[in-house]
Amino acid sequence: MSAKKGAPELKHLDHILVTPSAIKRRVAALAVQLNADYIDKDMMVVAIVNGALIFTADLLRQLSIPLRLDCLRASSYHDGTKAAGEPRIIDQMKLDVRDQHVLLVDDILDTGKTLAAVARLIKSKGATSVKTCVLLDKTARREVPFEADYVGFGIPNEFVVGYGLDFNERYRHLPCIGVLKPKYYGGK
Ligand code: IMP
Ligand code: MG
Repeated sequence: MSAKKGAPELKHLDHILVTPSAIKRRVAALAVQLNADYIDKDMMVVAIVNGALIFTADLLRQLSIPLRLDCLRASSYHDGTKAAGEPRIIDQMKLDVRDQHVLLVDDILDTGKTLAAVARLIKSKGATSVKTCVLLDKTARREVPFEADYVGFGIPNEFVVGYGLDFNERYRHLPCIGVLKPKYYGGK
């Protein structure tokens, strides 16, 4: 078998913000916290896809508590690096959240609009508790007051890709989190 090569898109990164090993350590620490906090609860994980896909997959495999998984799709991005307008829920979840302890999982908390809207929706459907877990938090960009209950890493105000995060649906498969070279997102 030939030696495994990294994705060619890694060359599109200007710099790496979070390495695969740092992600692995932090995801394990978050799982320890969640295993303790939800020990006597039946948890329902709701992943906001596509961004939360890889983070959720790694996190869930380290949880040792009973849980169910559902996904929903929200969209506020239109082919760019800036959110446009209010988030829309474009693919609803299948499970009933009534009387459930819901953990919302997303890749990144940016303006806060997506998680604020989704948390509001899930509470309105009668969930017993709604908590949020994000891999990344860009506090400098917040437009609505919102704090996540579980945060992987606080990051500076830069557009990042990798480990689930995309630019125009690309780069989600990169194992690290990094900042694109300006020429790849149409900057200077
Ligand atoms: P918010 O509603 O502004 O908090 O946006 C949350 C969503 O925007 C995330 O779930 C991501 O899909 C996307 N997003 C925000 N910042 C970035 C980024 O730096 N890279 C890639 N996607 C991002
Ligand atoms: Mg997203």
